[in-house]
Amino acid sequence: MNSSEPVSLAAASHWDQRYRQGTDSWELGRPAPPLERFLRTHSLAPHPPGQVLVPGCGRGHEVALLEELGFAAIGLDFSGEALAEARGLHGADRASLRWLQADLFDRQALEAAGLAPASLSGIVEHTCFCAIDPARRDDYIATACRLLAPGGWLLGLF
Ligand SMILES: C[S@@+](CC[C@H](N)C(=O)[O-])C[C@H]1O[C@@H](n2cnc3c(N)ncnc32)[C@H](O)[C@@H]1O
Repeated sequence: MNSSEPVSLAAASHWDQRYRQGTDSWELGRPAPPLERFLRTHSLAPHPPGQVLVPGCGRGHEVALLEELGFAAIGLDFSGEALAEARGLHGADRASLRWLQADLFDRQALEAAGLAPASLSGIVEHTCFCAIDPARRDDYIATACRLLAPGGWLLGLF
């Protein structure tokens, strides 16, 4: 890609390229420490069971943490490169963990994969909201509201 070309954050190919080129400077190699600390120790931390989604999960460190804590964890990303790495690091789909390649804003694809309205107990947000086109932030909120069951929660690090 020529550096003068506009970058489309909405294109999976942009993110695939970043993972391939290693220009993924957000990568921590582990779950974000404040999220992990909160989930493991805070008195307000949500408890399993429940189905929890990590949108834009990248290499899936938060997804693996949620599974370890006892949730049914779903890592969603539209980058095939990211999910290939997530599978390599944390293993293939199983009862308690699922990788889903889809655009967060593709309602049909989400529903075909079982993410129906009110199908989630929780959502863990880590650097997906800031990675989408700012014009789509209301869509992100609408998607989260649609997917969460009544009483559902969103835990995010912003
Ligand atoms: C900055 S990275 C963060 C990855 C991971 N959450 C982390 O903290 O390491 C943003 C991720 O969101 C994904 N992403 C961006 N927009 C998306 C969308 N509309 N649907 C699904 N994934 C998306 C990208 O492919 C990328 O893996």
